[in-house]
Amino acid sequence: MFVAIMGYGTVGSGVAQVIADNNENIAKKSAQDIFDVKYILDLRDFPGDVNENKMIKDFNIILNDPQIQVVVETMGGLHPAYEFVSSCLLAGKSVVTSNKELVAAKGDELLKIAREKNVNFFFEASVGGGIPIIRPISQCLAANKISEIAGILNGTTNFILTMMIDKNMSFEDALKLAQDNGYAEKDPTADVEGFDACRKICILASLCFGKHVYPDEVHTEGITKISLKDVEYVKSLGGVIKLIGRAKKLSDDKISAIVSPAVVKNGSQLASVSDVFNAILVRGDAVGDTVFYGKGAGKLPTASAVVADIMDCAAHLDKRKEFGWESGTKNYVADYNELETVMYVRAETQNKAEAEKDINSAFENAVFADTASSDEIVFITDCEKESELNRKLDNIGSISVLSKIRVVDY
Ligand code: HSE
Repeated sequence: MFVAIMGYGTVGSGVAQVIADNNENIAKKSAQDIFDVKYILDLRDFPGDVNENKMIKDFNIILNDPQIQVVVETMGGLHPAYEFVSSCLLAGKSVVTSNKELVAAKGDELLKIAREKNVNFFFEASVGGGIPIIRPISQCLAANKISEIAGILNGTTNFILTMMIDKNMSFEDALKLAQDNGYAEKDPTADVEGFDACRKICILASLCFGKHVYPDEVHTEGITKISLKDVEYVKSLGGVIKLIGRAKKLSDDKISAIVSPAVVKNGSQLASVSDVFNAILVRGDAVGDTVFYGKGAGKLPTASAVVADIMDCAAHLDKRKEFGWESGTKNYVADYNELETVMYVRAETQNKAEAEKDINSAFENAVFADTASSDEIVFITDCEKESELNRKLDNIGSISVLSKIRVVDY
């Protein structure tokens, strides 16, 4: 079998490397005499590269070559990835992608084309890098009704937060280190503002609950406003701050989905996930809680997932695997303001004693952190509808809120 790779960046070059390094094993396991990369599409030149002789710049060469039955898309971005992938599927070629932006925005549409053309469209690497998660949900946990899914879905932000928590490092220095290590997206805004985690929770929620969840339906907050002060206060309260993407089934036609920094209590399976590692908790009615853990970013971990998808395509060239979800519907994702939550709050005050009294009368079970500073007060609220919680905070005249972080109980 011959494969074409579109995009020779970090992941694409990793895919070529894994196929070359483990070739015999890969060919044998997928029952192919030959398992090789025939073309690599990229507009850039790679003089002296080990794959220089495979480089092409014209997409039509791939599209029109009947020998290419599986195409790998590792270009990233929506365009022209969307046009290329849909053309390949329409031409009867199976496609494997690591592109979460593409799957989160257009997954339903591309899955529909794949269904109509009886080919496969796989994207294991789009969530969790090297961690098996798409296939476990769609196959191993297929007998379950999944009620909830939550995880640390972005390696870059988890790395940054770990450096802030463990090394007291500034946000900027930690981001630079993550970029140097090749974890971050080309534009790290997607990482630090939570867009990357949003795309991943969209894919997971679509898969778990059967209807497409589009990124603009998911309330998304990143980690750029997290200060070392909050990190320390949360530590003193017995937790850590993590960027969490989560989705929950509320009824047959309603789910919640949100990405935001969250206080995770020490002892939770997600609290000890550090550095570039990701962890995804899936709650099923039969299996209970399962947690998938591993490297969520990086060249070879991500390539590992892409190559496994190619191998699965190779094993299913004649008969596509039943896999996917339907298009989304209006108002399917609930307004996060209407969901109940607990909140960590740091606020400024001129009168700490009065502020404490006011907070205690607004929140029956408020828990306060010890604060050295006389003009700051830090506390955890009761569990209330977020809109109601914000209304109460706005009405406490003795404080001015500086930061708020949702508290989760996974
Ligand atoms: N930038 C992403 C991350 C890469 O840091 O998790 C993997 O999707």
